[in-house]
Amino acid sequence: MIVTIDGVAASGKSSVASGVARALHVPYLSSGLLYRAATWAALQHGLPLDTPEAEGPLLDLLHAQTQAGTPLDLRPLPEGNQVWQAGRDISEALHTAEVDAHVSAAAVLPGLREWVNAQLRALTPPFLAEGRDMGSTVFPHADHKFYLHASARVRAERRVKERAQDVDSVEAALKLRDERDVRQSAPAPDAIHIDTGSGTLPEIIAQVLAHLPAPSAT
Ligand code: DC
Repeated sequence: MIVTIDGVAASGKSSVASGVARALHVPYLSSGLLYRAATWAALQHGLPLDTPEAEGPLLDLLHAQTQAGTPLDLRPLPEGNQVWQAGRDISEALHTAEVDAHVSAAAVLPGLREWVNAQLRALTPPFLAEGRDMGSTVFPHADHKFYLHASARVRAERRVKERAQDVDSVEAALKLRDERDVRQSAPAPDAIHIDTGSGTLPEIIAQVLAHLPAPSAT
């Protein structure tokens, strides 16, 4: 079984996805973490990301790391997704302001999208994949697809609680990210839409689970 959960930035995707995956007893794959890991690797090597020419050197780097036996390795562990490289957990480094600032530019590179998609498609179901285009592009034949929405204002208010910033500037930054992400964020036509603008996390997880078969006992 493959379940996909897509949605806009800060719509609560990762919290909902990890809760649903836990309830279903299946691994949860965060595709955004792979985009972040590739961005981190580019920044480590001083590669620029904001031009279409960035793609070749970035793919060369990822390929060279794989050849050298030190690929970026997504590990969907029960306690959360981690990315490891060369025996080291690099997950902490993937949510910095620097990676946040560059990851949208990396995510529009078609070759990088293919690289991420190939990593995900190489994994054996069952799993729950979370991101922007899991249901529309990567797993079009997924058994169950969800798309999470909330207004930019509600999402900004949630972020402000997490990070103590001004709500107007956070809302503006989210709208900018929505515009940049729009191409890869179109919902799959057969996705079930869930509004995460109201309701608690357990309520939203229950809303998703109501559309899914009961989990296996294992
Ligand atoms: O979900 P996130 O914030 O960790 O995602 C990081 C970036 O990667 C964000 O700019 C959107 C992009 N992304 C994407 O384009 N496609 C995906 N399937 C997942 C993430």
